[in-house]
Amino acid sequence: MSLAPQELENTASKYAAEAIKLDSQGSRGMAIQSYERAIESLVKLVQVYPDYKLNKIYIERANAYQSRIEALRLSPRLDGSMNQSAKVTSRTNISSKTNNETTSENRKTNSNEQWDAALDDLVLKEKPRVRWTEVVGQEDAKRAIRESIVYPTKRADLFPLGWPRGILLYGPPGCGKTLIAAAAAAEIDGYFINVDAASMMSKWLGEAEKNVSKLFVMARKLNEHENTPVLLFIDEIDSLLGTRNGEVGGEVRVKNQFLTEMDGINNKSKGTLLYVIGATNKPWSLESGFLRRFQKRIYVTLPDISSRTNLFVQYTSALKKEASLKPEDLAKLCDGYSASDIKDICQSAQLRVVNELFESGKASDDMSIPRSISITDFKEIIKIRKPSVSVDMIKAYMKWSDQFKAL
Ligand SMILES: Nc1ncnc2c1ncn2[C@@H]1O[C@H](COP(=O)(O)OP(=O)(O)OP(=O)(O)O)[C@@H](O)[C@H]1O
Ligand SMILES: [Mg+2]
Repeated sequence: MSLAPQELENTASKYAAEAIKLDSQGSRGMAIQSYERAIESLVKLVQVYPDYKLNKIYIERANAYQSRIEALRLSPRLDGSMNQSAKVTSRTNISSKTNNETTSENRKTNSNEQWDAALDDLVLKEKPRVRWTEVVGQEDAKRAIRESIVYPTKRADLFPLGWPRGILLYGPPGCGKTLIAAAAAAEIDGYFINVDAASMMSKWLGEAEKNVSKLFVMARKLNEHENTPVLLFIDEIDSLLGTRNGEVGGEVRVKNQFLTEMDGINNKSKGTLLYVIGATNKPWSLESGFLRRFQKRIYVTLPDISSRTNLFVQYTSALKKEASLKPEDLAKLCDGYSASDIKDICQSAQLRVVNELFESGKASDDMSIPRSISITDFKEIIKIRKPSVSVDMIKAYMKWSDQFKAL
């Protein structure tokens, strides 16, 4: 069973690799055929395995290939450049904020302009509004960020030997990697550039390494010209390696480009306030060259009992609860659950009492309020909601940490 999606994935990879090769050689018709076959396999994969974890990436990729087919059909001449428009509707753009639907009109715009526009969207110019107090637990991560980002930004003169510019946050989903990066950017009052590496690889096809370079150019420019700290957050950084997704082409070039850029940042003069935070759920897929560039490697763990207690305090603070409901008791019920699981559990508890109110027919009275939430509500929710992280995964993180963590 578990092999089957891989088979389809391999077929898609094979056709896509073929397509990209033909495309770069200018064999338009044959390239289109191969792109179509690749799309077919990807679509089948998503249909047959609707819950497969990489589906988001496959949909993006299929869309990108489709865009390329359209571009090839439209363009009378073969300019060899990848059309970078993508009519992707889910959250697929490289910024969490962008949603460019590209029309056939501006499809003709040159790719540089498109990229620059996409870059603009990447920069969240307002300060992210996450405060440190919202990040429960994760003391190691907070301390490392304070030491290597916050203090040097405030008093560069106190760091004659420089300071680390690269920080890797790794660990299971939903424990605060993104949240911590956003809080760091908020604290230094800098630009927060949020890039999803997986989308970058899939969306830009063979162009990814150029875009890595442009991304760093933009970060440097912002830092130098505006004299403002810049925090470049690269989510799912493991996908820059793309070991299993060989079809995109140029992974080695992307990786080398990235390493060169990181060296550039690490060797920068002392005053440069440019940081890279990489996040990954799969640290083991990063090779040593990568790791060396991230001088701090921090395990963002599942919450321990005290953090779980604080999470319940935080996420039930706005809810109406029975007086006997103790966050400590809830924390004990949730060993192995992530912070994000706990947030969801609290939300489910509220939904439960609100649903009851609606079903009782009393909700139409504006003054009516739901009953207080009890421990039984939580117990019933927890019974049917398993932790999103498995014990085996945690073992794998611990093993990797023993070998590679760097605080
Ligand atoms: N340490 C935390 N304290 C408080 N809330 C948290 C914490 N970690 C996660 N959450 C809640 O869960 C949500 C998801 O967390 P976040 O996106 O930071 O996880 P992540 O580690 O980046 O996960 P992924 O690996 O899936 O990207 C947050 O928006 C926040 O609401
Ligand atoms: Mg995240």
